[in-house]
Amino acid sequence: MPGPWVTPELTALNRLPMHAVPHDDRVELDGRWRFQLLRAPDAPATDQWAEADVPGCWTMQGVDDRPHYTNVQMPFRELPPDVPGDNPTGLYERTFMLPARWAGRRIVLHVGAAESVLIATLNGRDVGISKDSHLAAEFDVTGLVVEGENTLTLRVVKWSDATFVEDQDQWWHGGITRSVFLFATSRVHLGDIRAIGGLREDLVTGTLDIGVDVAFSGVEQEPGWTVEAHLEGLDEPLRATAPTTAPRDERGSWSRERWDVQARRAVGADLSAEELETWQQLVDWQVPPTLGAIRWSVDVPGVEPWSSERPRLCGLRITLRSPGGEVVEEARLKVGFRRVEIRGLDLLINGRRVLIRGVNRHDFDERTGRVVSAESMRADLVLMKQFGFNAVRTSHYPNDPAFLDLTDELGLYVVDEADIESHAFWGSLADDPRYLEQWVSRVSRMAIRDKNHPSIILWSLGNESGHGANHEAAAAWLRRYDPSRPLHYEGAVRFDWTSDQDVSDITCPMYPPIWAIVEHAKSGKQLHPLIMCEFSHAMGNSNGTLAEYWDAIESTPGLQGGFIWEWWDHGLVQKLPDGTERWAYGGDFGDTPNDGNFCIDGVVWPNRRPKPALWEHKQLAAPIRVTASPDDARRGRVEIHNRQDFRDTSWLRARYEVTVGGSAVSNGRVELPPIAARESASIDLPGLRAPGDAGEAWLTIHFETAGAESWAPAGFEICWAQVPLPGSARRGAPPAAADAAGVQLDADGLLVHDLLAAPPSLSLWRAPTDNDRIGGMARTWSDCGLDRLVRELVSVERGADAVVVKSRYATGGGAVEHEQRFRTLRDGAVAIDETVVIPDGLSDLARVGTVLEVVAGLEEVEWFGRGPHETYPDRKRGGQFGRWRSTVGEQYVPYVRPQENGGHADVRWVELRGDGGRGLRIELDEPRQVSVSHFRAADLAAATHDVELRPRPESIVHIDAAHRGLGTASCGPDTLDEYLVGPGTYRWS
Ligand code: GAL
Ligand code: MG
Repeated sequence: MPGPWVTPELTALNRLPMHAVPHDDRVELDGRWRFQLLRAPDAPATDQWAEADVPGCWTMQGVDDRPHYTNVQMPFRELPPDVPGDNPTGLYERTFMLPARWAGRRIVLHVGAAESVLIATLNGRDVGISKDSHLAAEFDVTGLVVEGENTLTLRVVKWSDATFVEDQDQWWHGGITRSVFLFATSRVHLGDIRAIGGLREDLVTGTLDIGVDVAFSGVEQEPGWTVEAHLEGLDEPLRATAPTTAPRDERGSWSRERWDVQARRAVGADLSAEELETWQQLVDWQVPPTLGAIRWSVDVPGVEPWSSERPRLCGLRITLRSPGGEVVEEARLKVGFRRVEIRGLDLLINGRRVLIRGVNRHDFDERTGRVVSAESMRADLVLMKQFGFNAVRTSHYPNDPAFLDLTDELGLYVVDEADIESHAFWGSLADDPRYLEQWVSRVSRMAIRDKNHPSIILWSLGNESGHGANHEAAAAWLRRYDPSRPLHYEGAVRFDWTSDQDVSDITCPMYPPIWAIVEHAKSGKQLHPLIMCEFSHAMGNSNGTLAEYWDAIESTPGLQGGFIWEWWDHGLVQKLPDGTERWAYGGDFGDTPNDGNFCIDGVVWPNRRPKPALWEHKQLAAPIRVTASPDDARRGRVEIHNRQDFRDTSWLRARYEVTVGGSAVSNGRVELPPIAARESASIDLPGLRAPGDAGEAWLTIHFETAGAESWAPAGFEICWAQVPLPGSARRGAPPAAADAAGVQLDADGLLVHDLLAAPPSLSLWRAPTDNDRIGGMARTWSDCGLDRLVRELVSVERGADAVVVKSRYATGGGAVEHEQRFRTLRDGAVAIDETVVIPDGLSDLARVGTVLEVVAGLEEVEWFGRGPHETYPDRKRGGQFGRWRSTVGEQYVPYVRPQENGGHADVRWVELRGDGGRGLRIELDEPRQVSVSHFRAADLAAATHDVELRPRPESIVHIDAAHRGLGTASCGPDTLDEYLVGPGTYRWS
């Protein structure tokens, strides 16, 4: 017989049903376990024991089985359901003492998650089997435990038939990745609790759908057990008696009268009151329940609804009493009252069309792989809140239940996703009946476990598995089990957004171009709210055009947001032979086949530090917008828009400042009235002084928390807004008296200057971003030789007021003509006017600009332009206009695989300074893209990991007349046409 690991029909043996009851009489079993790695699931144990952490991935603990990264492709060649013969299997063993107080109690083993098949034995006897790497397995071990010391063995098989439905784009690991514990209950105990809060149309009356199953394990059912529900704020508890099995003799006796009543009811005949009662009994008792089931539906007047903006929770206590009235078990839950519904093309939360500002999150830790603590999950969610996200998709499997407690508490809408992805085999497994139970059990167990969390607004049937009968079955199960939430599944809409299907209530495409979603929303063919399950792929230096996505979403009915792909850069800390560490990606552990750095695609680095793109998101998600006409701005009057759906502005306070040329000339507090959700108010900024015409002037208003929020301290900046103050812009001093006398050139016509280590020359290339590389642009650039331009001096003409140097560069796309006009100004400055003609053959360039190198020692940088974070032409709305200070070293943005970085958009001038007043100031004719770095583009392009880079002492300065947008072409659309750099004449000074 094949083993259970190659039997897809078998999803579990002896596993207890899933439930949502928190049981807290526990013995924790986390810690160091005896461990050995076998090469096959049925290999006998040896006497070679080492130790391993539980929870822990063994792949991160130095054993002979390292992490392996693949995206779509499977890590091995076998076809479902077969797996390789070399099948790493972890044998975990430990002892525990049974607490004396547990004598006579029912005892359950809980294994939080094991990848991918768990086979448990206790004291040498079989306990059970479970599959599904991201949901818990529980087994009743009452009959297997012994007094005193017990030995528990968990055999964890890495590859199985289930691996084919766990083919998510992430590292392959093996191990026990969530906590293991035992808990005890009484024989009669709370089997499951359903407590789903809702809200009536009046939006103030809460509803509570409560269901409690009373389980009688290993004992005769007896009548008289009662359950009470105490809702915080309600004086009287709800009380009900658990119905139990009807008396034995009644069960069997099906009199002719009863058959008649049942049949008459079935054909729709009117029944007398007496007959109705008989019929009701029949309905209740036809199948004797193994559980006592109680259901209540109650209205709770005057509730404060739960929303991401105000995640108001309410305590619920469920008490089980024996027939004698003794409290046998008590469970504490939290419920939230909220309303989720689809009306027309809108997904409404508490009656409002809330825009979904979401992000996809995997379980990830740079050192433990997939094992994440509650603190780490909280840190993720707090950072999401701080950066303006209101939603998270648990891509691509259910998270630890602690995660959902946190989203309930902190206020994030959740798309809860089942652990199903058969990407390599796409739809074939979804139609394979051998896999039917895997679909249904994964979806149903998720819903049974998570149903009570108010933060969950959508159920997702999984990811990238095509669309098959197994989806239909799982969807049907869900619709009946929890009608309160709509369904989400991208596979059902991938190739067609316009025909109806049964398994997704949301049109949830991945990576659609902006034009496509807008066109769809305007086509009249839209069927469902459109929420992108994935968009704006954050690989490397990316997320170009995020602002344009949001412009489209905010202005187009039917478009309702989406989830950025993704939260984490999945770089695993790897120790190198010399003792240093790096962030590893596919291939770094000798893993083949692999998909390289495609797992490095998040908005935070592997240590959770925000990447620059997060600042863009934060600003786009700002709950407050400020507008002002030029006249009003001058008088200090602005219009404040509260963009929140439910909350007024009283949790915020604001202050303003006016800067001229980057220096503050006035500032003050803003008297922020409480502006209701979705309302605006016009307010005056007392004391705002008009700046005169001394330079470029901006009014900046900062909004921060007035008091502490659960996710931010008081005084935390939520967003800012900037309004240009009119009539004051004055550019740098006019280059009046200029001549050519002081211009020093070398024999090749290149500028010579004390502060320059390399002269200003032409640059048409950048170190390819991941988007440039995977999108194919980098290839074209190097085919044309743009990464290694060869200059040919055409002429040097010395005139009285200027020296003109003409150069030519032969490229694969034709010759590029370059002219530099040099003059010295009276104050000793050098003016350079550049003209470049790009031939038609170069249709898509990284940049057209100047590169120069500044001598070592000028480490301080200051610039006026967007900042302080890295910005690019299609990702710059999160950059504030101002005067920013930094160092050349700090300008480096450490993308795990080095690439173009550190750019600043709309820069007016930049200074580099060293000790003793030595320095260089570069003034630009127009706002330009500028970067200052200790790395040449070629240095960055040659490195495969951040740690390989060695900073040069010089500073490499790029000044671009045009710089290509970033786009998202590594997975999704490239940047928009307006951000492309093509043929034509470019002039800059
Ligand atoms: C999607 C997929 C994700 C991830 C992403 C690319 O197709 O759902 O799991 O692979 O693309 O990073
Ligand atoms: Mg995939």
